[in-house]
Amino acid sequence: MIIAIDGYSSCGKSTVAKAIAKRLKLSYIDSGAMYRAVTYYFLKHGVPFKQASDQTAFAYDYKPVLNNIHIEFRINDASGIAEVYLNGANVEKEIRNMEVSDNVSHVSAIHEVRQRMVWLQQQMAGKGNLVMDGRDIGTTVFPNADLKIFMTASPEVRTYRRYHELIEKGIKVTPDEIRKNLESRDYEDTHREESPLRKADDAILLDNTFMTRDEQVQFVLDAISNLKKSLNV
Ligand code: DC
Repeated sequence: MIIAIDGYSSCGKSTVAKAIAKRLKLSYIDSGAMYRAVTYYFLKHGVPFKQASDQTAFAYDYKPVLNNIHIEFRINDASGIAEVYLNGANVEKEIRNMEVSDNVSHVSAIHEVRQRMVWLQQQMAGKGNLVMDGRDIGTTVFPNADLKIFMTASPEVRTYRRYHELIEKGIKVTPDEIRKNLESRDYEDTHREESPLRKADDAILLDNTFMTRDEQVQFVLDAISNLKKSLNV
């Protein structure tokens, strides 16, 4: 079974995806972590990417750079959750900082980057028992996914949740920075040319503004059992 969970930034996609993966013993892949890892590499190595202001980015040949970027997920034995590795190093913490968050939407709009990540994501599906979250999973990566969920929540709730998540991780930010970052990423992600964020026609909408984590997980589990009933399995 392939479950695709898409939606806006910081609306709790990964929390729900991880819980569903654990309950149903499926693998979990955080596709946003892959775009974040590429962004971290671009920043570290001075690869140009700000299309609007940086003319060199238009003519840049990204293929050789992407050939030097190896992204994989390895299970953390203590948590049982897959963590992202960039060229052999665990970068889970580094990819969540504000510099990466502020630039990831520019990097993830680059055609060659998307092409490479989508290919990798499809390879990672292997025999197809997984939950993947992101922005284009139900529309582009797995258009035939068994179940598609599209998540959203109010900007206030998303800001509040992300702020507390980062503060708990020891990352210093203000609510204002978070709010601005969410708004600009929502805008960039929904307006880019290639695979913009949108709800797939056959995705189920989950607005979790007033829902607890457990209620959201139950919502998805109910959707799975309805699906199984309709397929008679
Ligand atoms: O899920 P996240 O917030 O960690 O994702 C970071 C960024 O990566 C997001 O702003 C847009 C991009 N992204 C994407 O373009 N396609 C995906 N499938 C996942 C993320």
